Order: sequence, then structure tokens, then C-alpha cells
Amino acid sequence: MSFPPHAANATITVPHNNLRLEYDLLRDEIREALDRVCLSSAFVLGEEVAAFEREFAAFCSVKHCVALNSGTSALHLGLLALGVGPGDEVVTTPNTFIATAEAISYAGAVPVFADIDPRTANLDPACVERAITSRTKAILPVHLYGRPADMDAFRAIAQAHNLKLLEDAAQAHGAQYRGRRVGALGNATGFSFYPTKNLAAAGEGGALTTDDDRVAEFARAARNHGQSGRYAHAFVGFNYRMEGFQGAILRIKLKRLKEWTARRQAIAAEYRRALQGSAHIEIPIDDARDASAYHLFVIYVPDRAATASALAQRGIETAVHYPTPLHLQPAYAHLGHRQGSFPHAERAGQRVLSIPVFPGLTDEQVQHVASSLREIAAR
Ligand SMILES: Cc1ncc(COP(=O)(O)O)c(C=O)c1O
Repeated sequence: MSFPPHAANATITVPHNNLRLEYDLLRDEIREALDRVCLSSAFVLGEEVAAFEREFAAFCSVKHCVALNSGTSALHLGLLALGVGPGDEVVTTPNTFIATAEAISYAGAVPVFADIDPRTANLDPACVERAITSRTKAILPVHLYGRPADMDAFRAIAQAHNLKLLEDAAQAHGAQYRGRRVGALGNATGFSFYPTKNLAAAGEGGALTTDDDRVAEFARAARNHGQSGRYAHAFVGFNYRMEGFQGAILRIKLKRLKEWTARRQAIAAEYRRALQGSAHIEIPIDDARDASAYHLFVIYVPDRAATASALAQRGIETAVHYPTPLHLQPAYAHLGHRQGSFPHAERAGQRVLSIPVFPGLTDEQVQHVASSLREIAAR
């Protein structure tokens, strides 16, 4: 099922994203599902959420999925379930959305940043190895932009140093690493279903996936005030439950995720073709053994403002993910890093530019972006 044609303009415009398209496509199904939730009054957790958990676990080929109210909660509970607490260090990337590091801080632990591999924009295993101390408890790689991090390398490091491994797959639903979908490649995985994500709720949403029964059991209790039975609270937990509406909507969209991911990949391939041989524009590389979910398509350019403005003149909207690496954010100033601490992450922040890549783009829009990129690259 493809997206309905949207308003054709005399001049082609290309938004960075268009959340309305998914609703236009699925409106009847979504309204019926929301009605079902209202009629059952299962507004929090309930059968729709339980069914989504089963279906998403099957999609990721993992034993458990625990549905939560955000990706940040998923990372937080994942760390707690893996035994991370005050005094511990967790090694992660500074080139991510701040939620990755915040989850570490919520657990009372310290985020220890390691630099990225400039070729992939993902955490560099060699830098992780150097960041490990006697206090390190876990590694938290992010599958940034939907591109799988090098999980074999991280698993080997984790085994050698007796560390836990938590994936941040907030941007990578359906991405494949060496033929396996992300979500079951470490001890646990956090997903986000924020409305802009590849698999998107109509509001906040997240999930923790794991093959470990104890991690799942902890997360199920922790999301619901540490409840082990009705009004029996085994420990101080949280209100991190998924809403019934979100479960119902996510089930509908999950059925399309494979097709939508393939569309993102096809668009990315078109952009790569357009930029082949360009001396001024760099693109993170894809490992031929893996499949990025292309949550975002980013390029690296020496003069970002000029490139963004040239694209804007052609009606193409761009964004920046992310301008300031986490070690230079005021929120993490207390860690004592400075400009130059993680040069590859800093260089990425200065040069990165996100180009529209979402499944509802028309072929005409994709061609317009590709030819505009080709023109700009040739300058
Ligand atoms: C890499 C990454 N990690 C974590 C999160 C947090 O997810 P959420 O916004 O659902 O809390 C996001 C998205 O916002 C993200 O992009």
C-alpha cells in the first residue's frame, strides 16, 4: 500500500518530514482501533499494548518486549535492570540525542564519552576500549541515524571486561546487523516510538527488548510502580507504562514497517548515486553486511549554512542532527570536557546536515533532492 499523492505544487517543495501522511494513509484503521480502546476502556497497558509487545518482540526476533512511555524510560530501565547504579560508569557516544546520556545520569551513573568512527558516525570500539576503567559497568552504543553500530566488536569488549551491553535503537527499528535485526544484539535494547521515529506513536512511546527473563521481569514491575501484585510494591518503581492508544496505533504501523524501511533505503540509494564522486560532500559509509534503517540521511559539508541555504532555495528543508556533541553541552559541563576532547564528534557536529528521507516522499520529490544535491556537489 503506497502513500496517497499529496498536493502537487508548481515548484516542488520537500519538507524534512511530514507526519500527517501516515495518518492520511491509515486513518480508517486507526480510528477503528482507537474506538476499540475506548470501548474496552483499556487506556493504560491492556490488550492492545500486550499484543503490540508480542508482535514487536517477534519482529525483532527477541524473547521479550516491555512497552513503555518513552525511549528515555526504556534506556533508564534497561540500565537499572542490568545493575547500573551510583558510582558506575557507562561508556557511550557524544554524537547522539541527549536522552542517551540522560538515562545514564538518571541511573546515578556517569556517562563516559568515547569518540566516534568518522566513517560511520557511530561509537568507535577502539575508543571505547581506551575509556574503560575499573568502574565501567556497561557500554551503550547508539545505532545513529538507523545505521547499526559494530555490535560484534562491542560484544567482544563487553565479554573481555565483564560489562553489560545496552543498545540504543531509538532510531533503528528494523535495521539489520550481520543479517539480524537490532533489538537482540546485546543484553537489552531501548526503542523510542516518538512521533518522528521510523515506527511512530501518536504521542510518546518506547520499549525495552531483551532475551533475558530477569531483565524483562524487572522492567515490567519497574514501569508500574515496582508492583509485583495488585498494590504489592516490591521496590520503588516508576510510572513508565505505555498507553492503550499508542499500543493500538503501533500495531497498525508495525505491519508497514518493513515496506517503509525498504522505501527509506531506496531513497538513500538514490541520494548516494547522485553524490557519487563528489569531492566536497561526505556521507557515512554503510557496511555491505548490514542494512541501515535510514531514520535520517546525513551528509557532511564544509559550509553547512551555504549548502542548507542552496537547498532551501530549491524548496528543500534540512535539519541538523546534532549541532553540539554532548560533551560540550552545558548539561554535561561538570564532566570537564572541552573543545578538542572528541575531535571526530566535534567535526561531525560542525558539518552534518540532514536531508529529507521519509517513506511518503514522492519519486518526484526524491529526484528533485537528488538532482539538487548533484548540482550543489558539482560546484
Ligand atoms: C538516539 C536516541 N536515544 C534516545 C531517544 C529518546 O527517546 P524518547 O524521545 O522516546 O524518550 C531518542 C529520541 O528522541 C534518540 O534519538
